Amino acid sequence: MSETKTERGNWNSKLGFVLAAAGSAVGLGNIWGFPTQVADNGGASFILIYVICCLIVGLPVMIAEFAIGRHTRRNPVGAFKKLGNGWFPPLIGLWGVMCGVMILSFYLVIAGWTVGYIFEEIFYYLGIVAASEWVSDLENGIKNAFFAILFMIATVGIITGGVSNGIERATKTLMPILILVLIIMIGYVFTLQGSMEGLRMYLLPDLTAINTDLVFSALGQAFFSLSLGMGALLTYGSYLKKNQNIVESATYVTIADMGIAFLAGLLIIPAMFVAQHAGITIMDEDGNLFASTTLVFDVLPNLFKSMGGFFGLIFGSSFFILLSMAALTSTISLLEVPVSYIIDEHKIARKKAAMIVGGLVLAISLIISFNIGLIDLLATIFNNVGLPLGGLMLSLFLAWFWKTENAIEEIRSGYENLDHGYFQNVWTLFIKYICPVLIALVLITTLYNLVS
Ligand code: PFF
Repeated sequence: MSETKTERGNWNSKLGFVLAAAGSAVGLGNIWGFPTQVADNGGASFILIYVICCLIVGLPVMIAEFAIGRHTRRNPVGAFKKLGNGWFPPLIGLWGVMCGVMILSFYLVIAGWTVGYIFEEIFYYLGIVAASEWVSDLENGIKNAFFAILFMIATVGIITGGVSNGIERATKTLMPILILVLIIMIGYVFTLQGSMEGLRMYLLPDLTAINTDLVFSALGQAFFSLSLGMGALLTYGSYLKKNQNIVESATYVTIADMGIAFLAGLLIIPAMFVAQHAGITIMDEDGNLFASTTLVFDVLPNLFKSMGGFFGLIFGSSFFILLSMAALTSTISLLEVPVSYIIDEHKIARKKAAMIVGGLVLAISLIISFNIGLIDLLATIFNNVGLPLGGLMLSLFLAWFWKTENAIEEIRSGYENLDHGYFQNVWTLFIKYICPVLIALVLITTLYNLVS
């Protein structure tokens, strides 16, 4: 069924929904964020704690978002308005919409860098040095703005196509290509010298490296990577049919997200050591591995160059194409949150809504393009504080106002064996107590670290 103007769409197939939600989850957070955090936090021990965080906090909160979305069939603001009385519940949704707008505005600039680097690889190969330097200059405002605009046009284009024709179709094509490219690249890196040293760091946990900072970073990373806390997956859940099993879908999405993060690390951590073998500096004077921007936009491109010739071009451009694709399926979901809000609550047609919100977000992105120092600040406010805060409010609201019994009734639809087994009791325990307490601890620590 095709959707028109302000009518709500539906996912066409069960797999389509899982892939779209996984597409939202899999993004820069997996391919860039996760390996960086692993490198920063002592390798395999981070992975261990990260997996635990995804399973004991991420998965229960994701099930909650899907259940609220499908039950209300609304955007986050409308959903909380429908479930609760008074002025406060819609604010939880509005917080999500705001986080969506702000995260998208800087995510777009970074996504723009990834597109720029596809061209950097090509220009470098062709020997057009000036152009190659121009596209790889992360501080060049005009260039940043140009690529952010390009990325926004692609995002708006897909969103305008609607739920099944736009989002579902795009993610169904992009996700399998992404996995394939990743696996081919991993296979290649393992043939190079130095990769085994990286593999050891990646797979053998040093349990003494586990401390509270590591646990808090892991939980924050889990929220961002699983797209939780701002109603993106709630919105995707609102297009879900009643015969789909929410718990099963959430489990697939969580596993896909963790799996791709794991694959990305399997590529990047060994690649860093291959780079070191090739004489590229990968650590600062104190012996700490380079993090974030330097790692992805400096160490890796240098590695691709050291491969030389056509091979370096194919490898390098594939990597950045892969990063941009992953980012695109995430920007779609970031934009879908405010767009669905405007469609539902202000009865504006999808196309117009996408253009209005897209324009607004782009205006903020342009400011950031010229002041990239803002990215750290915005990421701290909206990723590290905004998403966990949203997740905390969502869990508390569900557990204590909407009530877990009502949520379970929603989850029952599509989940025939719900009454056999432990799901009800386990999920109730997690969403009522374990998730809120853990998230609150992380938030308090993050805020304490910020002010001290
Ligand atoms: N999960 C995305 C990533 O890992 O890059 C980022 C993201 C998308 C966060 C959508 C939040 C969101 F609602």
